[in-house]
Amino acid sequence: MSAFSALSGKDFAMFFKKKKPSAIDMENLPKHIGVIMDGNGRWAKKRGLPRSAGHKAGADSLKKIVTACNKMGIRYITVYAFSTENWSRPKEEVDYLMNLLLGYLRDAENTLAGENVVIRAIGSRAELSEEIQEQIIKTEAFTANNTGIVMNIALNYGAREELTTAVRGIADDVQKGEITVGDISPELISSRLYTGGQPDPDLLIRTSGEIRLSNFMLWQLAYSEMYFTDKLWPDFTVRDLEDAIIEYQRRNRRFGGV
Ligand code: IPE
Ligand code: IPE
Ligand code: MG
Repeated sequence: MSAFSALSGKDFAMFFKKKKPSAIDMENLPKHIGVIMDGNGRWAKKRGLPRSAGHKAGADSLKKIVTACNKMGIRYITVYAFSTENWSRPKEEVDYLMNLLLGYLRDAENTLAGENVVIRAIGSRAELSEEIQEQIIKTEAFTANNTGIVMNIALNYGAREELTTAVRGIADDVQKGEITVGDISPELISSRLYTGGQPDPDLLIRTSGEIRLSNFMLWQLAYSEMYFTDKLWPDFTVRDLEDAIIEYQRRNRRFGGV
């Protein structure tokens, strides 16, 4: 009798299943995680609720994930909250999102700030209401001296707008004679992006099953590991985050080498 014949079908399958690590290697954490928080609308629709309820649930999800990343010791997280293309949504939804973001930034002074999180907004601010612009300045100043995770909230963010702004700034410096054309390097371009001075994301997570970047961090994601999950953002838990990090740690990053 072979050793396997005593195993039930289920045990047999377990025996051959490649063992997946169930714990995170704390020595190999991603320094920076990018998150495309997608699927709020579908989450609400599934429950017969208005899209706004999905956004509200998404904001709660975000608080949990940032807190968990901070506790784990991850240094940077960039979350896509509102894209330069999201203005094309119905006015009612845009207004709701802007109000939610305003409340989130305000509330962060009591919650995330207490968790030692540094909050920064990235994206083009000029199109945002004065109230939000002022709140961004306040929240950033309030959390600037914290020493925990840096949370970049991408708000009216689009990678093409970011790169266009960077190119304009560099061209302006050349025109003024402050730098020469020969000074323009990948490092200089990186330093002119909203994330200047920060490491590129090691890991990008997108929820809701969409396999695209939707104008998010096109330059910075050049060598990031991509993790796509069908989970909708409001359903994305700390356990799901851990699974994404474990999967990241199983990847073999070569950066063009062998
Ligand atoms: C992501 O959820 C949040 C924002 C884009 C502001 P969606 O609102 O895109 O939700 P779906 O993709 O319609 O389900
Ligand atoms: C990307 O999601 C933007 C945010 C998550 C803020 P979208 O839902 O706007 O992207 P598309 O339209 O599916 O590409
Ligand atoms: Mg979406």
